Amino acid sequence: MKTKLIVILLLALTLVFAGCGSTPAQATSSTPAPAAPTPAQTPVAAPAVAAAEETPTEAVRENKSLVVVFSCTGTTKGIAEKIAALTGAELVDLVPAQPYTAEDLNYNDRSTRATVEQNTPDARPEIAEDISLDGVTTLYLGYPIWWGQAPRIMSTFVESHDFTGITVIPFCTSGGSGAGRTGETLGEQAGTGNFLSSTRFSSGVSDNELQRWIDSHK
Ligand SMILES: Cc1cc2nc3c(=O)[nH]c(=O)nc-3n(C[C@H](O)[C@H](O)[C@H](O)COP(=O)(O)O)c2cc1C
Repeated sequence: MKTKLIVILLLALTLVFAGCGSTPAQATSSTPAPAAPTPAQTPVAAPAVAAAEETPTEAVRENKSLVVVFSCTGTTKGIAEKIAALTGAELVDLVPAQPYTAEDLNYNDRSTRATVEQNTPDARPEIAEDISLDGVTTLYLGYPIWWGQAPRIMSTFVESHDFTGITVIPFCTSGGSGAGRTGETLGEQAGTGNFLSSTRFSSGVSDNELQRWIDSHK
């Protein structure tokens, strides 16, 4: 009996000492240790090569000049050709999907196409073929004055292109009216690009005058 009691006592003492063996931090800490980052969370340094590949490269600007002209009876086109020759720029016609007939252009009859379009601010006549502005930084944009404004097809053109990084230099011809705010209005409709004020030229403008105008925008 006495031996049994000693054995029990020894066992009890062993258990008590075993319980005290843990360090206080281990025994009392109830704060869960921060979870190890999952593979998705683990920040991994990207290899230098991959980083270089991912960096968006700026579109290569070629410093290209382009002349775009809308002209139904050839007057503005004649000026556009001179500008192209003086600047070395390519010349592109803005061609309507539905060409304007002589009757469409008869402004003595208020019910004809061109006049009806000008009286309809949101008219947007379709363009036959898209004109690429890739690499262009200077755009000479020519048109006739129709009822004091740029023809609505010019709005179709400016609203369907991104002119970011492009200086747009508008010019026009007319029977006598000035360019008004047509350049500014086209710029507002475009919403991008640096649109300058439009200049009205007479059909007989000299090369010297055109050259001075070109130089004034350099
Ligand atoms: C529908 C229409 C409206 C026109 N409105 C005007 C005008 O408001 N003021 C003006 O001076 N000439 C006006 N014109 C004349 C043209 O602006 C002029 O003839 C121009 O030089 C034509 O250019 P293009 O030969 O390049 O088409 C109008 C011509 C048309 C067909």
